[in-house]
Amino acid sequence: RGKGDRGKGGLRFAAVAPNREDRLVVPDGYESAVVVRWGDPVLPGAPEFDYENQTAEAQAEQFGYNCDYVQFFPLGANRGLLWVNHEYSDEALMFRGYTDGNAATEEQIRIALAAHGGSVVEIERVDRTGRWKLVTRGRRRYNRRITAQTPMRFTGPAAGSDLLKTAADPRGVTVLGMLNNCAGGTTPWGTVLTAEENFNQYFVLGSGAPEDQKAALKRYGIDTASTTPGGRRFDRVEERFDLSKHPHEANRFGWIVEIDPFDPDSIPVKRTALGRFAHEAATTAVARDGRVVAYMGDDSRFEYIYKFVSKKHYIPGNDWHNRTLLDEGTLYVAKLTGDSPAAEVDGSGKLPADGAFDGSGEWIPLVSGNVSHVPGMTAAEVLVFTRLAADKVGATKMDRPEDVERNPVTGAVYVALTNNSNRAPAQADEANPRAYNKHGHVLEIVEHRNDAAAKTFTWSLPLVCGDPADASTYFAGFDKTRVSPISCPDNLAFDRDGNLWISTDGNALGSNDGLFVMPVTGSERGHLRQFLTVPLGAEACGPMITDDQRSVFVAVQHPGEIDGASPETPKSHWPDGGTSQPRPSVAVAWHSRGQKIGS
Ligand code: FEO
Ligand code: CA
Ligand code: CA
Ligand code: CA
Repeated sequence: RGKGDRGKGGLRFAAVAPNREDRLVVPDGYESAVVVRWGDPVLPGAPEFDYENQTAEAQAEQFGYNCDYVQFFPLGANRGLLWVNHEYSDEALMFRGYTDGNAATEEQIRIALAAHGGSVVEIERVDRTGRWKLVTRGRRRYNRRITAQTPMRFTGPAAGSDLLKTAADPRGVTVLGMLNNCAGGTTPWGTVLTAEENFNQYFVLGSGAPEDQKAALKRYGIDTASTTPGGRRFDRVEERFDLSKHPHEANRFGWIVEIDPFDPDSIPVKRTALGRFAHEAATTAVARDGRVVAYMGDDSRFEYIYKFVSKKHYIPGNDWHNRTLLDEGTLYVAKLTGDSPAAEVDGSGKLPADGAFDGSGEWIPLVSGNVSHVPGMTAAEVLVFTRLAADKVGATKMDRPEDVERNPVTGAVYVALTNNSNRAPAQADEANPRAYNKHGHVLEIVEHRNDAAAKTFTWSLPLVCGDPADASTYFAGFDKTRVSPISCPDNLAFDRDGNLWISTDGNALGSNDGLFVMPVTGSERGHLRQFLTVPLGAEACGPMITDDQRSVFVAVQHPGEIDGASPETPKSHWPDGGTSQPRPSVAVAWHSRGQKIGS
């Protein structure tokens, strides 16, 4: 690899143009293929997908719906495991004739419960290329399905607290299933961290909200005024989803869940020390002194960015010890302060006189182990009602913090802020500088001394998204005539060269969502280019670039999810084509001649 190559981040592909095609579009010189689709058999002996004859029993053994976070764990050069989140079910696209949860059959509700969670699937390389496919023969001993009914346990300071106790679990230490697992991360000891996000949408308040829970439920997006049961009506098959009967059940969702992809018999663990909110992701780093840090976003409008710092140190190879690290430590929330006069930040997105949206920040401690730092709240309350705690300490309300990733080359930390239609001009600040932020932006955090455990940091916005012709966009000062339009950044990833990969959800510019890449250092900083687009109605999740940089996995979530789309009138037929129903699927793209992704 030449020097000039390094300066450009090694990126030479010609950008994919915005489009409305019902297929995966990759740059010239690249190919793509589907790896695993909704309904493909995961467990040995599972039935083949049969759209017209779905059962809950089959779904619990098949790949779930709406694939989101993707992680790849190599098993040698030509085999590996994929971990995939299944965020949510879209019944209108899953079932013919579906109207709503009240009219759904109980079997449809059970299928939806089984379509949530996650999958572990073993994959193998095809013909020494960057292409991978499902292993469909032989032992497949790692393959696993986790659903909304899989037994899990709680650990950490809030485990066993009254706030987690229910009739089914009077000790507050076990729970069935995980819900709305969006993005995620990995640990240095090789496990997955998967993030429960919008869990609020699964609960009903049959005979009214419990009075003492109302404020907390409201702060977590559960409409306490409405007792008309709507949504998926999981409560029709599992009473625990009715909070008027089981008021603490909602407290048992909204956590970071740790799962060992190599042990299909292991019990997933909800780590309460990492707090409870609409968790988007958890990205770990090892601090200078060996403590483990997890960065996390809370994806709702005006929510916060958090980080957890373990008390004890990571010991390479000591698995038993390392698996206790996320149970004890300090949970912090971010406060960001701009360095330009407030009068120069008017909500228009115009750069301040110093030429940058930037400033300094601090990590405010909320709770350390069993010690609360928030007046009037116990440690358990801070962990279960983390949003309420963060409200009290003056944290900075952000434009929907989604994925967080750390640059493996520089150590800088990046946060996708997807959009915020509700921010009024008077609420603009230097870290969230556009009112009614339709297209979102990306935040760069540089920790003090580049130490992940630091208590202070500096920050800037290298990317303010939108059509580059729009004066309120910013591409780190790069020539805007040479960049791709981008809207609603959601998931982030780095390749080994330190290029930032960004996938989008909800492109407000009107074309399909996709995957982009942008160098963040050198003269190419800000040179954003679109690498692929996903089919109609889909968002692009994952993404995951393998360590050998020959493959990029992308989860194509909710193809065909367009207003008015149904099995009768699908707006997408991806990936099976013809008149088929769309199927959320993980795809892989690779360079035809085996060059690294982005070449
Ligand atoms: Fe599930 Fe925040 O995206
Ligand atoms: Ca500034
Ligand atoms: Ca997301
Ligand atoms: Ca999103």
